[in-house]
Amino acid sequence: MTATTHKPVLPRQQLAAKVFHWVNLISLFAMMGSGLAIYNANPVFGGRAGTDFPGWLTLGGYLAPGRHWHFFFMWVFGLNLLWYGVYVFTTRRWQNRYVSKSDLEALQKSKNAKRRNYVFHRLVYTAFIPVLLMALLTGLGMWKPVQFGWIVATFGGWQNLRTVHFLTIPTVLVLMAAHSILAVTVGQWKLVRSMFT
Ligand code: HEM
Repeated sequence: MTATTHKPVLPRQQLAAKVFHWVNLISLFAMMGSGLAIYNANPVFGGRAGTDFPGWLTLGGYLAPGRHWHFFFMWVFGLNLLWYGVYVFTTRRWQNRYVSKSDLEALQKSKNAKRRNYVFHRLVYTAFIPVLLMALLTGLGMWKPVQFGWIVATFGGWQNLRTVHFLTIPTVLVLMAAHSILAVTVGQWKLVRSMFT
């Protein structure tokens, strides 16, 4: 008698969504690491003598290499977000992939834990989109403050822009933790595998 092995059936994910997801994750970590190397040269909080981050958390270690990495991955991160946006709109993915009005109603009315977790998960990964766009927008304003003077003005000056840009990091990390926990809660490891393989 031969033993049969049952491979779990993975949920189907679109290839385009998986490519976006991988490139986003890699470029985001590179942006965070190199951003911290730049930050250490002139901390946002507490002035030049303020809090800085250990070298092993940074990509590049120092200001000049940190800037090189940051400006390289800026293109990878920004263009990846751009084509994903085009993809989401041209395929009308936005109509069913993100949190919807009926999801929010279910959150208020439903007592079904499965349904509620599903909505929480959609809510969390939908929330990434404005946060990533905010990181890009504030970054653009700091990169070319003259050409994008309107961005600097909208945020009420350079220092505010830096602070908001910096705060997108902890926001992304909190969302990432919630997203990972909810992905496993909602669809177990097979859902996670479906997005990464
Ligand atoms: C900052 C990092 C991340 C961002 C911005 C992000 C964002 C997203 C977005 C926007 C989607 C929907 C994509 C689409 O189908 O169009 C998605 C799906 C997904 N992500 Fe992430 N993600 C991140 C990290 C992670 C991590 C670390 C995990 C796992 C531990 C993960 C697991 C998943 C899974 C399983 C799905 C599919 C959900 C489903 O089909 O219901 N993601 N993510």
